[in-house]
Order: sequence, then C-alpha cells, then structure tokens
Amino acid sequence: MNPFLIQIPFFPEQASNFAFEIDLFYLFLFALTAFFTVLIGVAAVYFLIKYRRRSQGEVPEQIEGHLKLEIAWTVIPFVISMFIFAWGAKLYYQMYTPPTDALEIFVTGKQWMWRAQHPDGQREINELHVPLGRRVKLTMTSEDVIHSYYIPAFRTKTDVVPGRYTTSWFTPTKTGTYHLFCAEYCGTQHSGMIGKVIVLEYSDYQAWLRGVPREKSPAEAGQQLFTSLACSNCHLEDNSGRGPSLQNLFGTEVKLANGATVKADEAYLRESILNPGAKTVAGYTNDMPTFQGLVTEEQVAMIIQYIKSIRPKQGEAGPTTSPAPAAQGVGRPAPTQAAKPAAPQGEQPR
Ligand code: CUA
Repeated sequence: MNPFLIQIPFFPEQASNFAFEIDLFYLFLFALTAFFTVLIGVAAVYFLIKYRRRSQGEVPEQIEGHLKLEIAWTVIPFVISMFIFAWGAKLYYQMYTPPTDALEIFVTGKQWMWRAQHPDGQREINELHVPLGRRVKLTMTSEDVIHSYYIPAFRTKTDVVPGRYTTSWFTPTKTGTYHLFCAEYCGTQHSGMIGKVIVLEYSDYQAWLRGVPREKSPAEAGQQLFTSLACSNCHLEDNSGRGPSLQNLFGTEVKLANGATVKADEAYLRESILNPGAKTVAGYTNDMPTFQGLVTEEQVAMIIQYIKSIRPKQGEAGPTTSPAPAAQGVGRPAPTQAAKPAAPQGEQPR
C-alpha cells in the first residue's frame, strides 16, 4: 500500500499491494546510482585537473596504501549492497509466495492471446476481471512458447512457460482498467498479445461473474474428463484400483516407489498426468499411459481442479462442484485422517 499516495511521475499507476514498495525500491536504486555517478564523475574531473602533469619531467609521488581508506571503500559498498540484497529478497519472497486463501484464476498463454478461467467456470480472452482488495493468485502455463504475463500497474511480471506452472499473485488496490502485456518475444504478433485487466468493486465483480455465460466449473469439467478419459477406472476411491486413490490427495505428502517424498501440488499432478512414470507412488507399478497430446493444458488444469475438489472439508464431503469464488482454494488441505467420506459415491458418475 502507498501510505503517502505518491504517484511518481513517468511511472505507471499504482494499483496493487506491491506497486508502492517496488516503486520505492526502484527510486532508491535510481537515487543511489545517480549519487555515485555524480560523485565519481565530479571526483574524476577534479582529480584530472588537480593532478595533471605540470612539467615535462614530473614524477608523481608514490603512495603505498592507506588502510583506513581501503576499509572504508570496502565496508561502505558492502553494507549498501547487502541492504539492496535484503530489500530485494524480501520483495521477491513476498511476490513469489502466493497466499493460500487467494482467489485462484487459471491463465493460459497461446500465440497470441491470453485465456483466463475463473473458479466458477467463467472464461475470458485478453481480459482479466479481478475484485478490488481480494488476493488473487494466477496459475499460468503456455500451450506453445514462452510468454510473460505483465501488468505494469500491479508491478507483476511472470514468465508463462510451456510444460510447467508458474504463479503470480497480487491484491488489486484501485478500481480501473489497466494494461496487460506479453513481455517475452513469442513470434510475429507478440506486440499484439495485449489485453486489459479490469479491477472491479467486489459487488461489481460478482455481477460481472453472473453476467458471463457460465460454463461448467473447471472442477465439474475435470470430473467429466476424469470419467471420459477412464481415469476413474483405475483411481478408485477406496484404493482398490490399479492406481492410488486421489481422494483427499491434494496438498499431502506422497511416498514414492524410490523412497522419496513429494508434495501433491499442481505441478506434481500435472506431471503425473503427462508423464506418469516420472514419480511412481510407493506400492504401485507404473501402468498408466501418458496423456501427453491427448489433453490440452486447460484440460489438465480442469482435471487438477477436480482432484483438488475431491477432498472432504470440515463437516462436508464430496466434490465441491460450484464453490464460491472467494472460498475456492481456501485454507490448508484437510488433515489426512483415515476417515473416508461415505457420501460421494452417489454423487459421482462412474
Ligand atoms: Cu506472447 Cu510475447
């Protein structure tokens, strides 16, 4: 937040929680650089004149060293650079540690457009509607080449890479319409891969969500894919199938056949769908075919949303088919009690 409401000239508008501090950081770096540039420039000119050669045979005085001076020009730059490092690291850590209670939006880059998918299934192209004052997490991937999702007013820029998930998060702090750019050269129409980020008051955002023709929510679509791709034939809920049960899996630690442990996050699930042999679960052999080429990145994301949804929350069980947007992804994964939900059988098409 910007406590002083300083809008720095020539800088883009500040419209996210990060914007003010990043601007301050840049201004600090700029001032520091300017200060030393002037100091060194002036000193260089001054010494140039002061110590110029005054006669043909002049021999300069030899100086052997000066301990205090050498300590000073070692310690002072060290302290300054460690300060820059600490501040930069703090900002980086904040920006790349998404909160767990954020509104999760899935973004796909594709030559040359941006697709976004909201938790309830609303989709948009080259636009991103987000609510004011809410934490928003973007999970992003690319269908083809590397793109970069850049919102100058939010001071966020994250590469969107084929074959993996990257995340970005922010809290919009000002309503309005802001630029969205692709910031990684990605082909002939790279410069046209632009869009708008629209920050709305929460009630307006809700109204906007209602106005968009709602398709299936990603979790619902994922559940259909789960059945149509026959995943459900092997991944039985009661663990009696050829594959491990996916019930209550997301966010837990998974023991692998090679003895290692891995966290069941989005990246792990994605890898296990596209390259099942990479991390075989302990107690299973890898019988699963790859789904590489059979599903698009958006469909992979849908399946992951479905897997995320099949974990019982406190007091309720079964797939949350249409979670409230703000509640999507809320909280820690439910504790891994042995208690298996009894209800879902009837709810899930088999
Ligand atoms: Cu996409 Cu440049």
